[in-house]
Amino acid sequence: MKIHRAENYQEMSRAAANMVLDQISKKNNSVLGLATGSTPIGMYEYLIELYNKGDIDFSETRTVNLDEYVGLSRDNPQSYNYFMHEKFFRHVNISKENIYIPDGADTDTEKVCKDYEKIIENIGGIDLQILGIGTDGHIGFNEPGEAFIPSTHVVTLAESTIISNKRFFDDKKDVPKKAITIGIKTIFQAKKIVLLASGSGKAAILQKALLWPITPGIPASILQLHSDCTIIGDEDALYLL
Ligand code: PGA
Repeated sequence: MKIHRAENYQEMSRAAANMVLDQISKKNNSVLGLATGSTPIGMYEYLIELYNKGDIDFSETRTVNLDEYVGLSRDNPQSYNYFMHEKFFRHVNISKENIYIPDGADTDTEKVCKDYEKIIENIGGIDLQILGIGTDGHIGFNEPGEAFIPSTHVVTLAESTIISNKRFFDDKKDVPKKAITIGIKTIFQAKKIVLLASGSGKAAILQKALLWPITPGIPASILQLHSDCTIIGDEDALYLL
């Protein structure tokens, strides 16, 4: 595991965007595993900047998002589908047919999960997976539990996740209680993983995830075993490491 110490959020974002650039430059039809949340927004902004300068071409790129809230349709501004289009997709030349995000509005969640697994398998797995980390150690929406859940599944969100994410909603009660997330095995099978962390709120969990024993109680701890995983954090997030 490599740790990249960035001076601040901008530097973290730039370093992450450069890793995406490197990946796309080497293989233009790469499969990118993408994340939502506050942390990767700066990375998306740099990628848009690179695209506007003509330095990166997403025309062949495939993208697979980590997760989606159950019950929110793609045009709901709180959905991760909407987030991805607003923050990234609509600004670059990614083809619509190459974008994959679980459909949170489909009531047959079991089928959505099965189909999503198949899609990831059919496009050849993830080349570069971008991750954030929850304050409880979740990656995607794989919440702490008794076991690592390997494939795409429906998860009941932890109370700490609901509290963290209520900042995006008018009221805590509006935060969906369930989500669809790709599983730990699918994340782990990505050829390359980049985990982004910013701010002192992530310092304690990063320390536990990277230095404590591997346990499903801290889902991100599994990344200790990955052969090509880079943590890019700013000083505040990495100060305990
Ligand atoms: P954040 O979320 O980037 O908004 O902190 C990270 C996560 O929950 O994975």
